[in-house]
Amino acid sequence: MLFWRMKKFVIKSIYSIKMKLDLDFIRNEYPSLREDYVFFDNAGGSQTLKRVMDKVTEYYMTSDVQMGGTYSVSVQAKERVNSGSAQIAQTLNAKLAHEAVIGGSSTALIRLFSIVIGKTLNAGDEIIITNADHEANISPWKNLAEQGIVIKTWEFNKETFQLELEDLKKLMTEKTKLVAYCHVSNIFGTIHPAKEFNAYIHSQGALSFVDGVAYAPHRLPDVQDLDADFYVYSIYKVFGPHLGVLYGKEAHLLRLPGINHMFIANDDLPYKFQPGGPNYELTYALNGISDYLQAVAQHHGMEASRPVREQMQFAYDLFDAHEEALAQRLLDFLNSKESVQIIGETSANKDIRVCTIAFVVEGRYSPDIDAKVAANNIGIKTGDFYAKGITKSLDLDQQGGVVRVSMAHYNTFEELERLIAIFETLF
Ligand SMILES: Cc1ncc(COP(=O)(O)O)c(C=O)c1O
Repeated sequence: MLFWRMKKFVIKSIYSIKMKLDLDFIRNEYPSLREDYVFFDNAGGSQTLKRVMDKVTEYYMTSDVQMGGTYSVSVQAKERVNSGSAQIAQTLNAKLAHEAVIGGSSTALIRLFSIVIGKTLNAGDEIIITNADHEANISPWKNLAEQGIVIKTWEFNKETFQLELEDLKKLMTEKTKLVAYCHVSNIFGTIHPAKEFNAYIHSQGALSFVDGVAYAPHRLPDVQDLDADFYVYSIYKVFGPHLGVLYGKEAHLLRLPGINHMFIANDDLPYKFQPGGPNYELTYALNGISDYLQAVAQHHGMEASRPVREQMQFAYDLFDAHEEALAQRLLDFLNSKESVQIIGETSANKDIRVCTIAFVVEGRYSPDIDAKVAANNIGIKTGDFYAKGITKSLDLDQQGGVVRVSMAHYNTFEELERLIAIFETLF
């Protein structure tokens, strides 16, 4: 075990030494980035890879049939769709490809799973939600109160802007069946210690349901390492098509009732949770994301013979270093302004936060700042981002919520300087 860990560390170190992300190479992969528009609302939705678009076209051009036939085009269509879900399962580091359930969005998938999980619970059972989550991971669970499930709220610490384990410990009882929380809040940007949370949740006999939507565009998820029971994210925020993916441990997926046609077998995973089947062309296009991550790794010197997951991790390591530097520049600027309060961690350390940065300016209505920036062909956003528990609890609604600059690995320092120059004129 120790030997393998050391080997992994040595390989990582060899490839990472002074390697900088080649942004020309990266940006060339995104057709929309060839325009003179700056996208800093990436937590809302990322730009899409050309490789993904090409796969959609390829599917329509050569596999546009129903799956399940014995004729060759149908056989190929099935293989293509399955290959897309297998690739996204690998991105999650799921042990088994059929542990990845594809759906229209994270909201849709969480709703669906709240219904099937709810069917296995009894009145008096407890579910813990948070006030730091996007509504997608709150309302579906709250709705289970209608069947007598007790819903408790794990509140974030207003000083640290984090969910803290000590607070969870005060809420959990032997009746707690599930804890639904975010790996990263889409406003604070702070990375929660999900592995530690899950270990505690399991020690109390409950399951974890982790919203990884704000994490996955910035760090490569690893559901096995986190020991998550369920983990969900939105693929359209991770450079891909408008889909969501939900990982569930095989044992849970087998135990839960399906939500597809009644005759679909219980062990027909993930189909029993995909009523109507997944969107074929978009699922096939998921291959474009893993192709991209491998191309990035190889462009930066990693051999194509390395395991795919290792290549993905190397690409993300390059992204993370660049994103940390961008976050540092923006946070340095914001921290230097007395009128600015950062709503989240003030350090750029990549082990602590992602480059989704929210703030308010004293005495300023946040949407006014947004409007001035938008007039300069730069997209940022203001509001509550459906994380209404945060803006309510911090009393920010009257101010129009927070200003959020959410960067991605393809953003450049030139773009950031353009934004900072506008901010300089505003506060
Ligand atoms: C943290 C978080 N969770 C969930 C969602 C909902 O994702 P989707 O749009 O895929 O339903 C979002 C969307 O912005 C989000 O930021």
